[in-house]
Amino acid sequence: MATDDPKGSVFSKHLAATTLLGYGIFGALQVIYRLIWGWKASSRMKGLLKDTPATKGAGHDAPAGWLKDLISNRDRIHDWRLDISQGQPVSKNLGFSWHPGMNMLIVNDAEVVRHILKDEFNKYTKSELRYDPFFFYIQDFLGDGIFVVKHGVGSEDRGQDWGNMRKVSSQIFSRKNFNSLMNEVFIEKAEVLRRFLQRSRDEQKQVDLQASFFNFTLDSIMRIFFGEESNTAVGVPNVYGKAFDTAQANMRNHAVESIAPYLLFSTFLPWPFGGQHGGLARWLWDRLSRKHRTMKSACRVLDREANRLVQKCRDDPQLPERRDLLALFIQAGFSADFVKQMVLHLIIAGRDTTACLLSWTFYELTRNQDVQSRLHEEIMQKLPPGSKPDMKSLSASEMPYLNGVIYEALRLWPPVPFDVKMAFEDDVLPGGWKVPAYTQVGYCPYNMGRDPQRYPEPETFRPERWIPFTTPSPYEFPVFQAGPRVCLGMDMALFEAKTATVELLRHCRFEMVQEQTVTYGDKITLDIKSNGKEEFLVHVRDW
Ligand code: HEM
Ligand SMILES: *[C@@H]1O[C@H](CO)[C@@H](O)[C@H](O)[C@H]1NC(C)=O
Repeated sequence: MATDDPKGSVFSKHLAATTLLGYGIFGALQVIYRLIWGWKASSRMKGLLKDTPATKGAGHDAPAGWLKDLISNRDRIHDWRLDISQGQPVSKNLGFSWHPGMNMLIVNDAEVVRHILKDEFNKYTKSELRYDPFFFYIQDFLGDGIFVVKHGVGSEDRGQDWGNMRKVSSQIFSRKNFNSLMNEVFIEKAEVLRRFLQRSRDEQKQVDLQASFFNFTLDSIMRIFFGEESNTAVGVPNVYGKAFDTAQANMRNHAVESIAPYLLFSTFLPWPFGGQHGGLARWLWDRLSRKHRTMKSACRVLDREANRLVQKCRDDPQLPERRDLLALFIQAGFSADFVKQMVLHLIIAGRDTTACLLSWTFYELTRNQDVQSRLHEEIMQKLPPGSKPDMKSLSASEMPYLNGVIYEALRLWPPVPFDVKMAFEDDVLPGGWKVPAYTQVGYCPYNMGRDPQRYPEPETFRPERWIPFTTPSPYEFPVFQAGPRVCLGMDMALFEAKTATVELLRHCRFEMVQEQTVTYGDKITLDIKSNGKEEFLVHVRDW
């Protein structure tokens, strides 16, 4: 009716034009406001950071002046960070002038580490999603849970959720569990892997040891968390494991591609097209990305598979005797959703990290054959084939050399080489450096482990450094973080890595396949790259 009415049509055209104009003004004001606010906040931050030295490098004291260097060094990012900050307890990298969340401090000093992780714990927490595209996609993949939840003044509930999750998840790390379930599983899965490696030896085939360790840690975790048998180490595919890997890899690759668009959408487009978390533009960007779609469909597989495992657990007549995490939590009355989420976060925290530790340990053992022989001697003396390793027999006092080998690998190749927190209030660091709110503050286990003041000849792999053993201060050696949010799985990781090392080394000797360039790339997980691929190829030999 209205379409036949010339007056109505003029009226609606007029309305449309006014609306559009109104939105245009509203949108422009919004973007201008955002830019002015960002510019003001950044200028204030720059002022407060005036006396903090910039990282070393031409142009690094200008906003985003380090970006060019970062891009050309992306294949050696941790060494680059060490180069540009070595010898300075705190160094700054200023971000873009319109973006307050990109100003960063790089920390190499134990007092400052203690300050941000313990003494002023409540001021520093996980980054704000709107400033950190990478973190946004991690959360997109994992949902809420212990690995991403904020604490302190940066969180709405002052960290209550985090505290609860921490309390609940720490239950699986009981002494009883270490001495029974974990002990059994690590030995059994290490034996499975060892037999696989011996077959490769007999057939004189090369093995990708890194992939083997990723399979080993997955197989162990599937049993400990889900009570589910998994044998990927001998090539049996596992649905949950495969979906997890697919989701994680695609999440990461999509996140890397999305950093620039995310910053542009959230700053330069008005609501609802842009703004917080990139608005509709980001939503569309994600939907159009094959990587993001692949990640989402892998997440659906994870969810379906987890539901199946929960149902199977509920129906299990043996439930009261089961000791895996799923069974413990189902019996304690937690909801399926809660348990599924919890397991996802524990896997992301514990699986790759431990596989990386093992990979780097064996990388160093193959480079340092004398160390490998010396370790073999200790193992044959204390835990020869047929004997069962446990928490006690694997301790630093019983097997000091083994312990030294593992700590050297952690020192030189920390699985989390760099870890960033965001300040949510103004602060002053020990030494007097100012930290404006929203500054990112990153501590560097990689840098600290290679400081010649702490470790003479830092590049040398020398297990004797750790004999006799005193547990290093977590602030000097923040490989597992420190303070109230220190890694919950440290003992589990050490136990797992030591058990596997003993089981493999008492039967086999390892030699690196020639011509592999090894770098520690830009991933949280390691890159032992050979010929551009992420693999670590070895020959398995007899002693
Ligand atoms: C060598 C192996 C490992 C290393 C180097 C490592 C390192 C770390 C680091 C640096 C953090 C702090 C992350 C952050 O808040 O930014 C962390 C947290 C955590 N780790 Fe580990 N981790 C390892 C193995 C494990 C294992 C095997 C588990 C058990 C499944 C585990 C469970 C956790 C949990 C639950 C948190 C979060 C704690 C919290 O926020 O309160 N980790 N780990
Ligand atoms: C690891 O597991 C995957 C999935 O089962 C398999 O395709 C791959 O061959 C395994 N790798 C090694 C080195 O055992």
